[in-house]
Amino acid sequence: MSKINHLAIYPGSFDPLTRGHEDMVRRSLSFADKVIVAVAHRRTQQKSGLFEINERVEMIRSVFANEPRVEAAEFEGLLVNFARSKNARVIIRGLRAVSDFEYEMQMALMNRQLWSEVETVFLAPDTQYSFLSASLVREIASLDGDVSEFVSPIVLQQLKKKFPPETRTQSLHGKDADG
Ligand code: PNS
Repeated sequence: MSKINHLAIYPGSFDPLTRGHEDMVRRSLSFADKVIVAVAHRRTQQKSGLFEINERVEMIRSVFANEPRVEAAEFEGLLVNFARSKNARVIIRGLRAVSDFEYEMQMALMNRQLWSEVETVFLAPDTQYSFLSASLVREIASLDGDVSEFVSPIVLQQLKKKFPPETRTQSLHGKDADG
């Protein structure tokens, strides 16, 4: 496939980065020169999530440490303003199932309304990740389940720190910080 844009933004909550997210980034690199994985601050939400924003960014940096075409960043406010500030006209989003479609379509159309030059590119994940979400990873890890298949060893290590054996009882499954 020929390159359609030099720079793409892959935004999300990434709480935490999963193998599914990694798959999206690698697929994006087949048509973008560079991908910025952009972690959104969600000031309007009461629940802050499992990992702090800087922890999520650090994990993404570590996971892609050997891939110079991937950058990790955080942003506050509108995604289109962040994209414009980077001169990036492509937003990447993953579509795991039909259930993702309505929300994703709404966001894509609204983002284009806010900045007419931006395009959203939807990518289908590898089928082995089509059921995977960060919220399920959080829940399983909190309940002492094995998530080693679903996250990189770097993320796994950080999850283990968040859930030392004596705390692994409370479910953190939630729809607020997913992806
Ligand atoms: O992984 P998520 O949680 O589904 O990601 C959603 C995200 C962060 C991409 C979306 O909420 C977002 O773009 N937030 C930034 C604020 C913004 O621009 N809102 C208007 C979207 S149309």
